[in-house]
Amino acid sequence: MQTTAANFDFKNWQTLQLAEVEDCLSRWVSADAPAGLGESMRYAVLDGGKRLRPLLVLAASEAVGGLRDAALRAACAAELIHAYSLVHDDMPCMDNDVLRRGKPTVHVKFGEAEALLAGDALQALAFEFLTPDDGVPAAMQAKLCRLLARAAGAEGMAGGQAIDLASVGKSLTEDQLRRMHRLKTGALLQACVTMGAACAETSKEARIALTEYGAAVGLAFQVVDDILDVVADSQTLGKTAGKDAASDKPTYVSLLGLEPAKQYAEELRDKAHVALAQSGLADTRALAALADAVVRRTH
Ligand code: IPE
Ligand code: IPE
Ligand code: MG
Ligand code: MG
Ligand code: MG
Repeated sequence: MQTTAANFDFKNWQTLQLAEVEDCLSRWVSADAPAGLGESMRYAVLDGGKRLRPLLVLAASEAVGGLRDAALRAACAAELIHAYSLVHDDMPCMDNDVLRRGKPTVHVKFGEAEALLAGDALQALAFEFLTPDDGVPAAMQAKLCRLLARAAGAEGMAGGQAIDLASVGKSLTEDQLRRMHRLKTGALLQACVTMGAACAETSKEARIALTEYGAAVGLAFQVVDDILDVVADSQTLGKTAGKDAASDKPTYVSLLGLEPAKQYAEELRDKAHVALAQSGLADTRALAALADAVVRRTH
């Protein structure tokens, strides 16, 4: 069962969306913040990253006929939360990584205190993006803020990162590992889809289907991240390969083995397609292509 992406030029769609996202990020993340903070913020956000989260927001919004201004703001806000999470994830008190997006990590380049502050400022800026003076109805702004806040906080990314740190050297059950991955990575990716859907009035059927799609893609994404940590090299990844085993982190590869982990990612991809087929939405081709891209990616 598959929603095919036939006759849909995903590459072209992606190129157009990415150009707009890069332009907005570059304009909205100002270099003017005091004492060099703007420079470290821009370093963390610009010139790198696959921008998967913005693409999910924009694809979901297009599928429901959403308000483009709102979707673009939500897309960039999600990327800021993601960029901030990477800055903090890489710090010595967390994963202690020196390479990110093919460059030295923010704390290596600017020092730990500045990395901490750049992350803080990016998180706050995300919510400023979502609350413009005009162009997006107030109720929609509030909904987008709530979705993003929940995905970033204790019931989402931050909570999942806490589980991650508490799980070093432990072997988790599959349920525990799934919960950790759903929170630390899946929640924000799922929120990208639900934020895109929140850019228009949608049917309950579509909302439920897109929520399921987001859950499947979000979990698949981190399963593949675990796989790539084992099978890819640092240059391809733009970050240090082999980190999970070196740091004794429980992952889908350590729990299931490489081939079953790949199989699981494929199953999640199929689940995502099934959800789209049940959405009742006319055009979910970009979302379908993104589910494939998440699982087939090489970096
Ligand atoms: C890496 O995310 C961190 C995780 C949440 C697993 P991405 O693989 O999306 O990183 P960028 O944005 O492309 O650098
Ligand atoms: C990070 O997971 C998830 C975040 C919330 C940033 P990882 O620690 O596996 O991400 P990478 O592999 O460093 O990108
Ligand atoms: Mg980590
Ligand atoms: Mg890490
Ligand atoms: Mg990883």
